[in-house]
Amino acid sequence: MIEFSLNGKAQKVEAESDMPLLWVLRDVLGMTGTKYGCGMAMCGACTVHLDGEAIRSCTTPVSAAAGKSVSTIEGLSEDSSHPVQQAWREHNVPQCGYCQSGQIMSAVALLNSNPQPDDAAIDEFMQGNLCRCGTYPRIKAAIKTAAGKMGGKA
Ligand code: FES
Ligand code: FES
Repeated sequence: MIEFSLNGKAQKVEAESDMPLLWVLRDVLGMTGTKYGCGMAMCGACTVHLDGEAIRSCTTPVSAAAGKSVSTIEGLSEDSSHPVQQAWREHNVPQCGYCQSGQIMSAVALLNSNPQPDDAAIDEFMQGNLCRCGTYPRIKAAIKTAAGKMGGKA
């Protein structure tokens, strides 16, 4: 039995300790907002927060979450009202959408650590989140809009 907090609620799961956190989230807990892309920490589709840090859940064993706090896209807001989600809508960011929950979770982690990132900071932080549809310019614009909405506070 592994216990952790998921989107603010206590969670207990029966899983092998080396099962990837992504599998536990999607297959055991039904939190399918987090996506499987490469399975090798190369694409960022599976990005969630572990104690506030953006991590790749495909290569993180569930045992690493024991006693910690995990946040997924489902936990950002009840009604898609988080400033980053609002900015994503304003800039019409997603195309196919597959990479976007990972992009948003990385963007939130970036803004939590750097509330007013410049272009270079955005490029550096977001470089591990790949988008085969090429939405990068809109992602960058939306991050800047979200930074403005958050007024320097994430
Ligand atoms: S699925 Fe985890 S980084 Fe690609
Ligand atoms: S929106 Fe299609 S992969 Fe990014």
